[in-house]
Amino acid sequence: MNAALEQIKQEILSGAEEIKSSKEAYEFRKKFLDGKTGKIGLLMREMKNIPPEQRADYGKGVNELKEWAMGIISELDTKMKAKELQERYEAEKIDISLPPQGSEQGNLHPITLIRNQLIDIFAGMGFEIYEGTEIETDYYNFTALNTPQDHPARDMQDTFYLSPEFLLRTQTSAGQIHVMENKKPPIKILSPGKVFRSDDDATHSPMFTQMEGLVVDKGITLCDLQGMLDVFVKKIYGENTKTRLRPSYFPFTEPSVEVDCSCFECGGKGCKLCKGTGWIEILGAGVVNNKVLENCGIDPNEYSGFAFGIGIERTAMLKYGINNIKLLFESDLRVLKQLND
Ligand code: DAH
Repeated sequence: MNAALEQIKQEILSGAEEIKSSKEAYEFRKKFLDGKTGKIGLLMREMKNIPPEQRADYGKGVNELKEWAMGIISELDTKMKAKELQERYEAEKIDISLPPQGSEQGNLHPITLIRNQLIDIFAGMGFEIYEGTEIETDYYNFTALNTPQDHPARDMQDTFYLSPEFLLRTQTSAGQIHVMENKKPPIKILSPGKVFRSDDDATHSPMFTQMEGLVVDKGITLCDLQGMLDVFVKKIYGENTKTRLRPSYFPFTEPSVEVDCSCFECGGKGCKLCKGTGWIEILGAGVVNNKVLENCGIDPNEYSGFAFGIGIERTAMLKYGINNIKLLFESDLRVLKQLND
């Protein structure tokens, strides 16, 4: 019988060398150690055929073989599992030495940049911000601003009406009325926001952004307006920029002016930007019409004021040399990346 044990031992020793995976090691274990079908298990079952006086020795021999086989096969299993883990690590290895792709840094949209810049300049002069609503009534957008129903000024601004009473505001000037209705002078506000007009070409868009300014106090004159504008244009277009006022017409101001600044591109000599004139139109303004003050319950004998309205897209187009307003709304990153200071 010792020969039978010895043969199994040899079989295990040579078989172990052929094992290449933990799965094979598992099958190998089954082949020898399975309680019912394993070769060592079967040796145990032979016990009944062994003469009683040899049984103790036989049993001891089988047990020792079993212990030994378990040790060998477990070791084999551990080795195979370690090898397989190593292979998996190799296969799943991530090369962390690759340079990162990096994340791109965004920047503020030119409209936001100009808006913030204007707010900064005027806040520095003591203006407060008032943000009105984009839906207005006909009264605030036109009537209270001294633009009666049949007034030709209404045709200057093609309006999107939501109903006979409500409309999308065509100008931030509507905010002037809300402020003057609710606040006693001195008033010094800046009102930025979107406005809407049925207008669409290279320099006009159905939606654009304006910034309204309003100052009302005792003894305010057109000179105060010009003084403030001088400071403003120097800050936004450069120290050497000058302003000039040209007579114009707006129903809510009297007198009304169109404000030009000396061309910041050519310094006033005349170039393509200023169409050879040396001057660039930048905003509309004027002394608040007495009728507008009265509409808001402010006594024009006691108070006076000035107002102005700046187009933000126009300011951005001038500043960045953009010839089509659509470039500001298309969100083309190739364009926007260039307009970030
Ligand atoms: N609301 C005018 C427009 O949209 C701009 C404007 C002109 C505003 C003169 C004013 C002003 O406050 O005084 O064309």
